[in-house]
Amino acid sequence: MSLTMRFRCHWLLALVFAFPLRGHAQWRTLGNADSLRDDTPASITAFSGDATLRIEILSPTVARIRATKGDGRFAPLTSWAVTGKLPTTTVRKARQGDTIHLRTDGMTVSLTLHPVRLKFDDAGGRTLNEDAEKGIAWSGRQVRAWKVMPPGEKYLGFGEKAGLLNRRETHMTMWNTDIPAYTADTDPLYQTIPFFYGITDVGCYGIFFDSPYRSSFDMGKESRSEYSFGAEDGDLTYYFFAGPTAAQVLEQYTGLVGTMPLPPRWSLGYQQCRWSYTPESRVREVAAQFRALRIPCDVLYLDIDYMEGYRVFTWNGKSFPQPRTLLADLSREGFKTVVIIDPGIKVDTAYQAYRSGLAGDHFVRRKDGTLFVGDVWPGPCAFPDFSSAAARTWWGKQFGPLIADGVRGWWNDMNEPSVFNTLTKTMPLDNRHRPDWGPGGHAALHNVYGMQMTRATYEGVRSLSPDWRPFVLTRASYAGGERYAAAWTGDNVASWEHLKMALTMCLNLSVSGQPFVGSDIGGFIGYPSPELFARWLQLGVFTPLMRAHSAINERNKEPWEFGDRWTAINRATIELRYRLLPYLYTVMEQASRTGTPAMRPVVFTSPLHRNRWTGEEFFFGNDIFVAPVLSEAQTRRTVTLPEGGWYDFWTSQRYPGDTTITVDAPADRIPFFVRAGAALPTQPVVQFTDEASLDPLILLLFPPHPGGGGTSDLYEDDGSSFEYAHGAFARRAIGLRSTDRELRVILSASEGSYVPPARQLVLRVAGEARRPTRVLVDGRVTPERIMETGGRESASWEEDAKSGGILLKMPDRRESVTVIITY
Ligand code: GLC
Repeated sequence: MSLTMRFRCHWLLALVFAFPLRGHAQWRTLGNADSLRDDTPASITAFSGDATLRIEILSPTVARIRATKGDGRFAPLTSWAVTGKLPTTTVRKARQGDTIHLRTDGMTVSLTLHPVRLKFDDAGGRTLNEDAEKGIAWSGRQVRAWKVMPPGEKYLGFGEKAGLLNRRETHMTMWNTDIPAYTADTDPLYQTIPFFYGITDVGCYGIFFDSPYRSSFDMGKESRSEYSFGAEDGDLTYYFFAGPTAAQVLEQYTGLVGTMPLPPRWSLGYQQCRWSYTPESRVREVAAQFRALRIPCDVLYLDIDYMEGYRVFTWNGKSFPQPRTLLADLSREGFKTVVIIDPGIKVDTAYQAYRSGLAGDHFVRRKDGTLFVGDVWPGPCAFPDFSSAAARTWWGKQFGPLIADGVRGWWNDMNEPSVFNTLTKTMPLDNRHRPDWGPGGHAALHNVYGMQMTRATYEGVRSLSPDWRPFVLTRASYAGGERYAAAWTGDNVASWEHLKMALTMCLNLSVSGQPFVGSDIGGFIGYPSPELFARWLQLGVFTPLMRAHSAINERNKEPWEFGDRWTAINRATIELRYRLLPYLYTVMEQASRTGTPAMRPVVFTSPLHRNRWTGEEFFFGNDIFVAPVLSEAQTRRTVTLPEGGWYDFWTSQRYPGDTTITVDAPADRIPFFVRAGAALPTQPVVQFTDEASLDPLILLLFPPHPGGGGTSDLYEDDGSSFEYAHGAFARRAIGLRSTDRELRVILSASEGSYVPPARQLVLRVAGEARRPTRVLVDGRVTPERIMETGGRESASWEEDAKSGGILLKMPDRRESVTVIITY
C-alpha cells in the first residue's frame, strides 16, 4: 500500500469514527431495576446499575420523566422553558407483579421493572404511548429514548419546520441555524421547539423533550416500528401530556412553558420592512406614500443601515441626523418605528456598548478565558452572554436612549447566534458562558441564546417603559420563547413553493406554543410576480404577524410597486386586515390567555378530521376557516369544509360542513369561510390601528341553521398598556339563535372594567336578502335606523358598512341585550 493510500484509508477511518452513522452508535440501554425509591406520593425513582429513572406526576395529565447516568444523582433540574406551576393531583400507586402503576384521574403511567420501561395510558385505559424495546439508552455523552410507533400514528409540531405537517418518517435536528434561502427539506432552521403531538385514531398525546443541547427526532425514518428522540449531552428530561385532545395537550404544554403576553394592538396592523429604508428621506417617502395612496399601515422598520457602522444602540449621524424628529413625525402620521437590534457588539473601545459590556464582564469568553470575537455585520464583535442575569440586565438598560428617541419595537436578528467567519456558522461549542448556568459551555446554551436575547430585550424595555406592552420580533428562539417575542420564519425566497412553506411553518410554530408568527411577505430573496405578492399579502391577513420585507439589492416590493391594478388589490387586502381587527385582537387575546393559537391546522382542531393533514387550509380563531390560494394562475379553489355550517365570506353563500366545494378565487379574493352561528366583530377601514377605530362596531352575523345557535366573543381593552391584567378589559359573548323568520342576537353584559369609547353598533346579516319587518331591542326599543340591506349576491361587506344593516346605539357595557330581527 502506498503511503498516499494508507493516508487515505486512515483519513476515511477517522471520518467513520468521528461521524458514526445514525443508529450505529453503541447504545447502552437501561436494564433491570435493582431498587426503587418512593420519593413523594407523586413520584418514584428506579435504579439500574449506574442509571437512574424518575417519574414525577405533575398534574392529572402531565408527567415528567428524567433519566441520568453516572453516580445516580440528578443534576439540579434547570429549564429555560418551564416556568409554570401545574395543579397538583392525587396519585394512586399500585404494584402488579413486575409493574408499578401511577394513576391519576386523567392517565396512568406504568413502570415495568425488568427491564425498566414506561407506558402511558389514558383515563379509559387505552395505551397512548409506550417505550420501545431499547427504552432509554446512552452512548458516550449522548442520551436517547425510543418509543413504539404504531401504524397510523402521525406527528405534529416540532416548531419551525418546513415541508409537510405530518412529520412521520422524517428525521429532524434541533440546532438554531442561520440558513438563508432554505428549502422545504432544509433542517435545522432558526428555532428550536422540541415539542410534538402523537395523533392516532383514538387519541392524542404530547411530548416535550426539554433539552437545550443539539437534539434530534427520528420519527420512523430509521425504523418502521419505533421513533426516537435524544440529545448530544445532558440528562434526559421529557414531559408527557395525556391530552386527550390536541387543544388540551397544548393547554397542558403552555401551562408549563407559558403563553404569549398580549401584544400591543398596533403590532397587529400591517408592517412594512426592507433592508434598508435609508436615509431618513426615504423613510419619510415610504410613509407619505402609504398615506397618499390610502394603504393602511402601522409599522415601519429600520434595518441595519440606520446605525453607525452597524453598532447597535447608535444612529448613523449622516443618514439619520435627527432621529427624534423623524420618529415624532412618523408617530404623528400614525406609524410606529421598529429597529433591528443584533446581538454582536462591535469591538471598538470608543463604543459605549462595547466598553460597558467589557467592563461588566458581560460577554461570552473562549474556553481559555479570553474574549470571544466573531464577525457579523459590524466586523469583529463580542457577544453578550444572555444566559447571565447580570448581562441581561445590562443589555436591557441599553434601550433607554432609543426609547427616548421614540422607537416602539425591537427586531432581534442574527441571534442563533450567527457568526460569519467560522465553518460552523456559530461560535465554538466550548465557549464559556457565566457560572450562573453551570458547566456545558456554548453547546448547552446555543439553542437558547436567541430566546435569552429576546428575554433581555423584553424585560429591559418593559422596565424602561412600564406602561407599554413591548413588541419584540425574533428569528431564533427556544420552547417558551413566546413569552418574550413574536417570530418570523427567516430569509425565505420569492417563490410559490415558499408561499406554501410559509403557511406550514406558521402552522407548525402555532401548534408548538408560538402563536405570534408570520413570514416575510413577498419573499425576502428574489422578486415576486405581482400575483405572487398579492397572494402572499392575502395569506398575511391571516397570519398574526403581517409584515412585508425584502433583502438589500432587490427591487422595491412595497404594495404599490406592481402596477395600478395590483395596488388596488393590495390596498383592499390590507383593508380587509384592518376590518377584521376587532376579531383578530379577540383571537390573539384568547391565544395569550389559553395558549390556543390563531392559526390552527384542521387536524389540530377537528377530531372528526384526524386524517386531514392538509397544510393548505386552516382555522383562524374559532370562527374563520381559510383556504388561501397558494399556486400560480389559480382562480378557483377547492376546499373541504370542516364540520358545522359555513358561509363564504365574499358571497354569503351558505354550505353544509363536511363537504368539498369549489369557489371562485379571483386575484383580489382569498377564499375564507365563517362559521354558521358566528358573530364576527369588525370595524370600518382605518389607516392605522389607533385612528378612530371601532366606530361603529360592525357585527357581521352568520345565522345558524333554523333551530340552531352559536356564540362568539368580543375582547377589547386600551390596546397598549398592562391595565387589562388588573381587570381593565371588556369581554362580551355574542349569541345567535335562528328560526325561519327570526334571528336573535344576545349580547352579554361585558366582563371586566374597561369602558370602550362611545360608538354605534351596526348589525349586518349575511346571506339575508329580506328587509326586516321589525327589529326589537329588549322587546321595546327600536333601532335608530334600518339601513338598506344589500340583498345582492355579493353581500357587500366590501362596501362601506354604513350602506347596509341595522344601526343601533351601542348598548351600555353593563347591560345584556337581546335584539330580535324578524322577517
Ligand atoms: C438577516 C435577516 C434579514 C435582515 C438582514 C439584514 O438576513 O434575516 O431579515 O434584513 O439580516 O439585517
